[in-house]
Amino acid sequence: MNKLIIDTDPGVDDSMAIQFALASEEFHIMGITTVFGNVNIEQATINALRLLHLAARPDIPISKGASKPLQGEFLGGVPFVHGNDGQGNTWRPAGPLKPIGVSADEFIIEQVLRFPDQISIAALGPLTNLATALRKEPKIQDKVKEIVFMGGNAFCSGNATPAAEANILSDPDAADMVLGANWPLTMVGLDVTHKTILSRDVLDEIALFRSPSNDHVMEAYQFYQNFFMKVNKIDGTFVHDSSVIAYLIDPGLYKTVVSPVRVETQHGISRGKTWPSLGESDHEGAEVLEPWRNRPKIKICLDVKDRMVIQLIRQRLTR
Ligand code: BDR
Ligand code: CA
Repeated sequence: MNKLIIDTDPGVDDSMAIQFALASEEFHIMGITTVFGNVNIEQATINALRLLHLAARPDIPISKGASKPLQGEFLGGVPFVHGNDGQGNTWRPAGPLKPIGVSADEFIIEQVLRFPDQISIAALGPLTNLATALRKEPKIQDKVKEIVFMGGNAFCSGNATPAAEANILSDPDAADMVLGANWPLTMVGLDVTHKTILSRDVLDEIALFRSPSNDHVMEAYQFYQNFFMKVNKIDGTFVHDSSVIAYLIDPGLYKTVVSPVRVETQHGISRGKTWPSLGESDHEGAEVLEPWRNRPKIKICLDVKDRMVIQLIRQRLTR
């Protein structure tokens, strides 16, 4: 079993991704770390705690993380996508669970050092906790098994702005730091999440599976689905955060390329854009351009067996 930490800003689709991981025997979930993003850090933490309570998994520690990006302030989240409570305005009571007294970055450091080469991290929100963990303890670079993050757009447009994807735009400085560190990273960005659609029919099927946590997530999905219907004109939702879990279960579902990636951190219209380098093979004998020089190559998911991903999600969430 893969020892997994889920770093998350729940978020309707984060909640489904957590459910998906909980329902998958491939993982031993060591903890959930929260980060601002879709909502503020207090609400994100409440949402994670409530979900574990509803899923009857009080044994999994939840650790509260960053409340704002490395530079600047939290800008208020995306209530039009996830609701004011981040859970589709379901406003369920918080539940009895409490976060542990260790911050998210300290928890990540502690676990990675305690279990060298064994901890995988699914990063489903802004990359701030990973950046501060790295800053506090650079040794974790060599000791983490892998990090798979939902974020970025290599060769397609963004979703938060024409240039940028929401998680990366929430903290471009953290993203540029995390993508520049020497650890095994895989980017599951809009290049593949926009090719993977959970249709209304499949969501209806998942909703037939009754459990307190599934009922909650499916109620939240009604709000989330309306957003995609209005904005993207699709009858269903793109699969963002659950794609990370699918990748961790079966990387063969994804086609990847490797490249160093820089993040635009300037405050112009392209802030938050993830830029892969041109690729050495395109430029035989040419030097790697300066901004990408000496940066590690990361895996970038570019294509996906989308129907198999949907099938996997459906299978795990209905048993
Ligand atoms: C990402 O942004 C958030 O709204 C979702 O939870 C996902 O992590 C998609 O761009
Ligand atoms: Ca998220």
